[in-house]
Order: sequence, then structure tokens, then C-alpha cells
Amino acid sequence: MGYRPRVSSVSRILLLYSSVYGHTLKISEFIKADAAARGDVVEVRPLADGAGDVAGFDALVVGSSIRHGKHHTEVVEFVRAQRALLDSRPGAFFSVSLIARKPTRQTPETNQYVREFLARSPWQPQLVGIFGGVLDYQRYRVFDRYAIRLIMTLTGGPTDLHTNVEFTDWDKVREFSNRLSALAAGRASAGQAAGCAT
Ligand SMILES: Cc1cc2nc3c(=O)[nH]c(=O)nc-3n(C[C@H](O)[C@H](O)[C@H](O)COP(=O)(O)O)c2cc1C
Repeated sequence: MGYRPRVSSVSRILLLYSSVYGHTLKISEFIKADAAARGDVVEVRPLADGAGDVAGFDALVVGSSIRHGKHHTEVVEFVRAQRALLDSRPGAFFSVSLIARKPTRQTPETNQYVREFLARSPWQPQLVGIFGGVLDYQRYRVFDRYAIRLIMTLTGGPTDLHTNVEFTDWDKVREFSNRLSALAAGRASAGQAAGCAT
């Protein structure tokens, strides 16, 4: 774990993601590229592979999509098992779901998945991002297709089974990435914005 004080102005950030169809990975890679433009280094790893050696990282990030109303079990188990490691550094979390396409579901208080996750998690990240995901009916198994269509019907989303749409607001991801760099550099950024809370 060995946390060493920073010796350079470049932040090194470890981002662990959990994704089924790759959109959480796409968001992770976007954060990596955005941070790189500021000179920061984000290493993106599948959470399933574990955290590995975190020596040398200034901050840790966990990113997860939602499946059937929950963040992935591996994420829930990881934050329980790795609390000491997660608490050893500034930490951030982001959640990707279809419900988060709605501006009214983009804070930890108004997004039920994130609210429940944080209520049960022993780890309390300093920064939370909540991003809309992808809806691509044709990609899903038949059961999932109709389950998601039911969610869309209940929440006023697209129900045409040929819909393929990305609801991610990349400006919000950029804002999260900016705040992440500030957090890793020991400059907790003030204020709160939709889809991104400190
Ligand atoms: C099987 C399945 C179940 C899902 N369940 C939910 C859900 O309960 N609520 C929600 O808001 N989004 C739900 N989604 C939407 C995903 O969170 C969204 O598509 C996200 O972009 C997936 O990211 P990933 O590709 O990284 O897994 C579901 C998607 C799939 C494929």
C-alpha cells in the first residue's frame, strides 16, 4: 500500500472499472485521455483483476455500470474487502446507468443506485460522478431487452427496439476528470455540479 508523498506535479491515478458492454471502459479511457492533456497519468485496469500494487498512485477511482438495479457485485465486494486500501488515498467513484440520463437523477441524493451504494459502502469517496449510459436494445439478450424496455416505459425513455443511443454527457465526464486531477493533487475542488459531486 505504502503511500509516499508527492514529489512531482504530475498526478498518478489508478482507475478500476467494472463494465459489461464496454461503456464504463469507454468513459474510463476518456478520463485517462482528458487527464493526460493536463499531464496527469491515469492507469485503467479491470476491477476484476484486483488493485495490484498501488504504491506510487496519488488517487484511486472505482467506476461501475448498473445492471438490474445494482452496481456489479464485484464492486460491492471490492469496496468492502479493500476499505483500508481505498482509504489510504484520495478516492473517487463513478456510476453509469440509463436512469442517470435524467438531470433529476444525477446527484448521490437523487440517484437511487448511488444513494444505496454509498449507504452500504464502508468506503466514502470524496468525489462522485453519475453518468448516463448506452441504450442498445439489439445488443441485449431477449430477457434483458424486455426488462430494460420496461424500465424505459416506466421512466419515459425510448421504447423502440431499434434504439441505439448514448446518453453520456461528456462535458460532465470532463468536469469529473478535472476534479479528479485536483483531488489527486491535494486540491479538493469546491462546489457541486449536476452529475459530479464532491
Ligand atoms: C442487462 C442490463 C441491465 C441493466 N439494468 C439497468 C438498470 O436497472 N437501471 C439503469 O438505469 N440502467 C440499466 N442498464 C443500463 C446500463 O447501466 C447502461 O447500458 C450502461 O451504459 C452499461 O455500461 P457497461 O457497458 O459499462 O456495462 C442495464 C443494462 C443491461 C445490459
